[in-house]
Formats: sequence, C-alpha cells, structure tokens
Amino acid sequence: MRIVIEPRELQGICLDLRRQGQTVGLVPTMGYFHQGHVSLMDHARGRADTVVVSLFVNPTQFGPSEDLDRYPRDFARDRDTAEKAGVDILFAPEPGAMYAPDASTAVTVDGVSAGLCGASRPTHFRGVATVVTKLFMLVQPTFAVFGEKDRQQLAVIRRMVRDLDIPVEVVGRPIVREPDGLALSSRNVFLSQDERDQALWINKALQAAADLIASGERDPGTALVLARDILAAHAPLGEVEYLEAVDPDAMTPVTRVNGPTVLAAAMRFSRVRLIDNRLARPAAGGEGR
Ligand code: PAF
Repeated sequence: MRIVIEPRELQGICLDLRRQGQTVGLVPTMGYFHQGHVSLMDHARGRADTVVVSLFVNPTQFGPSEDLDRYPRDFARDRDTAEKAGVDILFAPEPGAMYAPDASTAVTVDGVSAGLCGASRPTHFRGVATVVTKLFMLVQPTFAVFGEKDRQQLAVIRRMVRDLDIPVEVVGRPIVREPDGLALSSRNVFLSQDERDQALWINKALQAAADLIASGERDPGTALVLARDILAAHAPLGEVEYLEAVDPDAMTPVTRVNGPTVLAAAMRFSRVRLIDNRLARPAAGGEGR
C-alpha cells in the first residue's frame, strides 16, 4: 500500500491510472477505522482496479465549539487496517496541504442540508461538500463509497453530484452495527459504559417505529411518538436532538408515509453526539391507518 500525503502527487497518480483505463474506487474517511469503514473498503476492493482511501479529519466541517481537537486518531492502526483490507493508496494529507491559508471557495448544497444535522451544525455540510469535491477532483474516481449512517451526508453528496454533473457514481452502503444493534461510529469510544448500554436503544426505538409503519401506520407522528417514548424510558442519560421522518432524497419532513421514508435520530450523551437512521417501508397495498 502506498501512502501519499501531497494532494498534487495523488492527483498525478490517479490521472495516470484513469488514462490507463483503470477503474478507481474512492472511500473518503476521517480515520479511526472500525468495521463500518472496512465494509466500505471491501466494497470498493470488490469493484475497482485501484482503491484509494482518504484519511483526513477535515477541519472545515467542524463548528467552532465542536470536537475537532479531540476527534479520535490512530494513524498506525488505520494504516494497518487499510493495508489488510487491500487498499492500494492511503491518502493522508495535512490540513495545510488541503487548504490554502486564503482559501475562499466552498460548495454549498441548499435544502437537503438544512434540516436534521444541518439545523444544529449550520456550516457542517458546506465543509463536507467542499472537501468531497476536492477529493473528487484529486482522485477522479469512477465511484465513491459512503456509509448510510450519515444518510443526510449521502443525500447531500448525491444532490451535489447531480447538480454539478460530477462524473462519479455515489455508492451508499448499509450501516454496520454491533451485535446489540448500536451503529458503529468512531465516536462510540467516548461513551461511558452506562451511556453505551443506553445508546443501543436509539436503534431499537427507530426499529420499533419502522415496524409500526410496516404494520400499516401511515402517520409518521404516531411512529415517532413511540420511538420518543422508548428513548425516554430506556435512554435517560441521552438528550434527543432530533427524531424525524424525512424523504430519502430531499431530507424534508413527510406528513404521511406513502413510500420509503427515513426515520432519523440524533442523540447527545455527555461527551458525544450520535446519529442513526432506519429506512421505513409502508405495508404493501391498502390505505394504512
Ligand atoms: O463521513 C465522513 O467521514 C466525512 O464526513 C467525509 C465524507 C470523509 C468528509 O470529510
């Protein structure tokens, strides 16, 4: 596995690969790898001639009071994990190499980025869209793989690629969970044992709401009240930041479930904010309740 830290060097290598007719798969990450990241790398490995993984804790997607400084990092472990996953190029730039001190260009994706996480993190998706655009320009990948845990991020990137005619296939891959259902996240290391035990109820609450919809409930409000009650009973150490039913593409709230609907949650525990989601599908046929 080759480790590249200079953006221009990466671009030169990747342009050569594409000229040779190779397919290039990109997995953008912020490191501190877990099985969720490995599943994205595995997917890319199964499809591409060359797999590029970027490892960059992107400062522009963190707000001033957020956890940029204490975001978990372990380069040696990440390097070994990527190597074992068969990654060809690990791109690990310094922030100074990615952003000129007077950088003044950004990509904003309106609408899709406004609700859910965007409501409490108003500059987050601009940072994400900008760095992903830069990675696309550097790697020129055939496809790029993202986890569905950040479902709003995936919707933002899909919209950006569509609107700007970026010739990259955006691939979303399923959430990888612990055996008890907790979605894997680099930030889970910051949970105390009690918080960890309660955090798994985020998934259980979303699943219960999705099951209610699958059994015929069409009012998202009723399903969300059920989820909220479950969290109040089983996760009192956490505070729900949002619990919403949204359209999978537009990420705007739905008032009636007429098709696949994303049930999304963000919950704050003392040192960490967790997100999770489930795709709810209404019962086939009938008007529902
Ligand atoms: O999902 C992430 O880890 C980041 O938001 C991404 C896509 C790598 C951009 O920094």
